Amino acid sequence: MIDPSAALRAGLLGVSKSDKVKSLIENAPVSRGVVSRFVAGEHTTDAVSAADGLISDGRLATIDFLGEDTLDLRQAQATRDAYLELLTALSGRGLTAEGKAEVSLKLSALGMALGADGEKIALEHAQQVCELAATCGTTVTLDMEDYTTTDMTLSVLRDLRVDFPWVGAVLQAYLHRTEADCKDLATAGSRVRLCKGAYKQPESVAYQAAQDVDLSYVRCLKVLMAGAGYPMVASHDPRLIAIASSLAARNHRDEDSFEFQMLYGIRPDEQRRLAAAGHKMRIYIPYGDQWYGYLVRRMAERPANTMFFLRALATKS
Ligand code: FDA
Repeated sequence: MIDPSAALRAGLLGVSKSDKVKSLIENAPVSRGVVSRFVAGEHTTDAVSAADGLISDGRLATIDFLGEDTLDLRQAQATRDAYLELLTALSGRGLTAEGKAEVSLKLSALGMALGADGEKIALEHAQQVCELAATCGTTVTLDMEDYTTTDMTLSVLRDLRVDFPWVGAVLQAYLHRTEADCKDLATAGSRVRLCKGAYKQPESVAYQAAQDVDLSYVRCLKVLMAGAGYPMVASHDPRLIAIASSLAARNHRDEDSFEFQMLYGIRPDEQRRLAAAGHKMRIYIPYGDQWYGYLVRRMAERPANTMFFLRALATKS
């Protein structure tokens, strides 16, 4: 049976690759308003002040300098430099202490898509960010992009963890392979951010129906919560949050041995409620002007948002 919200989501993620649609969405006045809800701003100072506000309010932060699929070495170097500037600014404000604010990296923004040397270039850039993060007393987590990059991302993770064992990675429950990846990574010191997955992926590698993705998420959570690593439960889904809490209790985990994570601007009341209840609650804060890919994925997650954008596109084209 066709799942209508999954079909809408796939529709928006599919058309978003077109240059015409990209230009339409980037220039539509409505996009700007939506961007300001999900993105902290364009500059380092915007990201630092968003993190400061959340940390003062009892939450934690992980910050993403927006950008992906970089095909230009200078752009990849500029992304690395943006992270170095960010970590310096966060540390100067005392926000990296005890890992309160950390950073999230997309390897495709650091050069992974730059041909045969891409993996090596992304690894070197990530190592430079990790060196400064270590000096600042905080951690780094690798975002996970489309399934064609999963093996390479996990390979870079392994290399980084030789010198920086605290580097974490995202795993996406919609991929068939993820339960096995969770088993591999549920080891002491290993930080795994489990999310549902936000890209359009083929049936051959990924569950398509929302219910199957949720079931996979629960199987993966069981592995992570029972394992020796540090699970990071990245979801806004109330059922999965409740299941994560019960699994943590069943596995005798204390509040410091796992955390919840949500995206900036999504379910802020629930973020505050979980933090007030004594849970570690980290917010993923994106900033920068390359917001297109991120915004489309946030739109695609909600059928109402998707309908709105598809209607706008239909009337303008
Ligand atoms: P679901 O989409 O079912 O949403 C549950 C509820 O949350 C909704 O009913 C709604 O109330 C609210 N909600 C969710 N999305 C919303 C939106 N866009 N607007 C308004 N309300 C919304 N993905 C990926 O592929 N690679 C990655 O590296 C990451 N990284 C990452 C980090 C963190 C910290 C988080 C929280 C998420 C990611 N993701 C990600 C995104 C993830 O894969 C997923 O697409 C979103 O979290 C939405 O899935 P939920 O688990 O929230 O469930």
